Amino acid sequence: MLSSEDNELLCRVGRGTPMGELLRHYWMPCLPSTELPVPDGPPKKVRLLGENLVAFRDTQGRVGLLPANCPHRGASLFFGRNEECGLRCSYHGWKWDVTGRCVDMPNEPEESTFKDKVRARAYPCRDVNGVIWTYMGPRETAPPFPAFEISTLPAEQVYPPLMMLEECNWVQALEGDIDSSHIDFVHAKLSPESKQRGTYNLDRRPRLEVLPTDYGACYSARRRWDTDGLYWHRITQFIMPFFSMIAASDPHIVSARAWVPLDDNYNLQFVMRGRLDRPVTEEERRQIRNPFAAWGGYVEATSDPRSRFYTAANIHNDFKQDRELQKELILGIPFLGNLQDRAMTETMGPIYDRTQEHLGTTDAMVIFMRRRLIDAAKALRDEGAVPVNVEDPNLCRVRPASALLPEGESWITATEKARQSDAGVPIAWVPFV
Ligand code: FES
Ligand SMILES: [Fe+2]
Repeated sequence: MLSSEDNELLCRVGRGTPMGELLRHYWMPCLPSTELPVPDGPPKKVRLLGENLVAFRDTQGRVGLLPANCPHRGASLFFGRNEECGLRCSYHGWKWDVTGRCVDMPNEPEESTFKDKVRARAYPCRDVNGVIWTYMGPRETAPPFPAFEISTLPAEQVYPPLMMLEECNWVQALEGDIDSSHIDFVHAKLSPESKQRGTYNLDRRPRLEVLPTDYGACYSARRRWDTDGLYWHRITQFIMPFFSMIAASDPHIVSARAWVPLDDNYNLQFVMRGRLDRPVTEEERRQIRNPFAAWGGYVEATSDPRSRFYTAANIHNDFKQDRELQKELILGIPFLGNLQDRAMTETMGPIYDRTQEHLGTTDAMVIFMRRRLIDAAKALRDEGAVPVNVEDPNLCRVRPASALLPEGESWITATEKARQSDAGVPIAWVPFV
């Protein structure tokens, strides 16, 4: 349980809030690159940390991210013309480049130097392996770009990001990813014989152990695996401020998942995955662009960022829960992306009142993660302390792991190398679904 003050501090992301300021120190995914497919194409509305922005790809292919309101008198730059290395406001023609410089002011006297004095607050962007990232923080020069494996692999080995909009606060969604216990229920099938995709574990009382790290934390959820005394350690990473890496279930895939706050009440999930062994095929790319096809796919988006990657099965139709399917799957919603998780995390309400909860032993990592974020936001607010993984781009070069170990063997020692991207050892994985 949290006090209502800490709950507010944890969840709110607007400029000037403690957590909003912490988040702004990090590079964040903001759009799949395919949303800005061509130079000089149509701009896109973006909403991020409660700010309304406009993204565009200029003539040279560079991505710009500007406030939606033109610095002149506030008309929406979404209606602007993307032409010759800048976005020209349609109201009076002022033109802005990707760095926020005003490069043309065609309604002022020719001799005027006013355009050199006006600037838009442009956020720097990087377009890496299919994902556009941005930095919205206070520094003149952005911190180093995080060296996640999915960002440093050759582009042909990286899948397009799997996208899902979620109608709730980002912390609720993130909590779901570091809460191993729920896989035995919300993702489970009732019988191992069922053909439905679902988990089936005999031991549904995992023991959690959290290992604090300099970038966040990782934890093992330990379950009895068989009668020979083996235990399954499902080891998940949490990387500040909102990245997770789920225990590996494939010997070739590395991943990072981000829960990016559009504002206090909406977040956008990016599931970013790459292969260590081969390029991604065209067929695989095609499939991942419509991951929810079997349950209605996405609703057609309007220009509103809160309609993009929004599934047809959603909170307004109870995620199309099927009571017949519930005879095989606990939830009666198929295991597609994080759709099942959403039925749990969105129905808590936009921002769950954590003064009302009752936490058990299996919530150990959720408790740790919240405390880590709250402490970091307070340290920044009170002492100006910036978390170390803002400065060191290599701290995110870690992997989740999954391992079968005898009782009493330390998962921390046994998976020490497997949890590092660059230790030169294979991915530690166990098939579990
Ligand atoms: S409001 Fe944009 S140029 Fe006037
Ligand atoms: Fe889940």
